Amino acid sequence: MPAAPLRLGLAGLGTVGIGVVKIVQREAALIAARAGRPVVVTAVSARDPKKNRDADLSGYAWETDPVALATRPDVDVFVEVMGGHDGPAKAATEAAIAAGKDVVTANKALLAHHGQALALAAEAAGRTIRFEAAVAGGIPVIKALTEGLAGNRIKRVMGVMNGTCNYILTRMQSAGLPYETVFEEARQLGYLEADPNLDVGGIDAGHKLSLLSAIAFGTRVSFDAVELEGIGAVSIDDIRLAEQMGYRIKLLGVAQMTGRGLEQRMTPCLVPAASPLGQLQGGTNMVVLEGDSVGQIVLRGPGAGQGPTASAVMADVIDLARGCRVPAFGLPAAALAEPVPARSATPAPYYLRMRLLDKPGALAKIATCMGDAGISIDQMRQINQPGEADDDAIVLIVTHKASPADIAHAMAQFDRTGVLVGRPVAIRIEEI
Ligand SMILES: NC(=O)c1ccc[n+]([C@@H]2O[C@H](COP(=O)([O-])OP(=O)(O)OC[C@H]3O[C@@H](n4cnc5c(N)ncnc54)[C@H](OP(=O)(O)O)[C@@H]3O)[C@@H](O)[C@H]2O)c1
Repeated sequence: MPAAPLRLGLAGLGTVGIGVVKIVQREAALIAARAGRPVVVTAVSARDPKKNRDADLSGYAWETDPVALATRPDVDVFVEVMGGHDGPAKAATEAAIAAGKDVVTANKALLAHHGQALALAAEAAGRTIRFEAAVAGGIPVIKALTEGLAGNRIKRVMGVMNGTCNYILTRMQSAGLPYETVFEEARQLGYLEADPNLDVGGIDAGHKLSLLSAIAFGTRVSFDAVELEGIGAVSIDDIRLAEQMGYRIKLLGVAQMTGRGLEQRMTPCLVPAASPLGQLQGGTNMVVLEGDSVGQIVLRGPGAGQGPTASAVMADVIDLARGCRVPAFGLPAAALAEPVPARSATPAPYYLRMRLLDKPGALAKIATCMGDAGISIDQMRQINQPGEADDDAIVLIVTHKASPADIAHAMAQFDRTGVLVGRPVAIRIEEI
């Protein structure tokens, strides 16, 4: 007797939802062969039933209410691709779990805010919640962490996980354009979320980092503890000058467990220009995973878009069709530890840029402040920009490893030297 099909209820018929429909329809035979049973869509939901959606939906039941869709008896897996961290996405996901359905979602915001509660509820109901598409789009990073690297202690997770920010930063660098101009270009190209701060403020990427961090370190998702800084203050001057020192600026997520606790930050960082992260161009994503046994793994690929995101949703669906059930965060949700946020970040080298009065002893005063703060200097360079007034000069410093507190202390002392013009800039250099 042929195996019973796995029946999907699909909430959301936008970019990702229609991508899922297309794969289910186009690859029905391949998926059935790989999963050992057919995968079919039985019912769908979206806001506007009249919208032209570039796919044949005539064979599917329509539900206006995603909660009604999630609880239909002819749905085995609720696929949530609507978005939003509260409201219908949360209500329908909870209803699906309560009705005994497995859930597949692409919604990082929902999981970053409610992942622990949803995972607990799913496990209590004997179900699973899967979210490959929620982090780094088409890159199978959740599977890599929960399965491929399950025999490792993860030491560090790093990544460029917001394609829009990487597009803006690489375009600033290649075209020599200021942030505001490229931000506007990105807006016109439709690259930005309706609320651009989700992208450029680092929130979207921070959601993703918090999910990877939970899996990597066996801790509850703690998005609120992610140190967030967006790219709005990254200047074209720093992009150019960092390049001269052999670095590129990326919005980089870093999570690591240290003796001081769990560090999670999504901030602009300098990375070596020649490194895989430094070479990453445009909207592409990259995740770097470091395990004690495996060493370093680099995953690179499309972080968004219809095909890549639907590809990740389908990977989860096919796993469920095969009967493959991995806990959402790699451990039973009840076993995830409450993370202790690190009070201070691991020391790192820093890039400092400042403008100093071009007079004897100015550099020595700055060097003294740094020495007093216990920071040693690796490189120091004075740059006189052609055509600029010669009564001040740009000074670039790359430090040896220093704590953020020491850097802040030194910067406060710079203010008292009387040789500083304007505000200095300090950017962490992430060692890779
Ligand atoms: N797009 C990507 O590349 C990408 C990548 C990774 C993850 N994701 C995640 O995937 C999810 C979906 O993204 P998307 O880009 O596909 O969004 P989208 O194109 O805006 O589509 C959202 C869909 O959800 C429907 N919807 C919204 N509110 C609803 C409600 N209250 N009831 C019923 N349906 C509702 C919309 O209906 P109407 O069409 O009728 O308005 C639309 O079909 C989000 O969580 C997003 O973060 C997206």
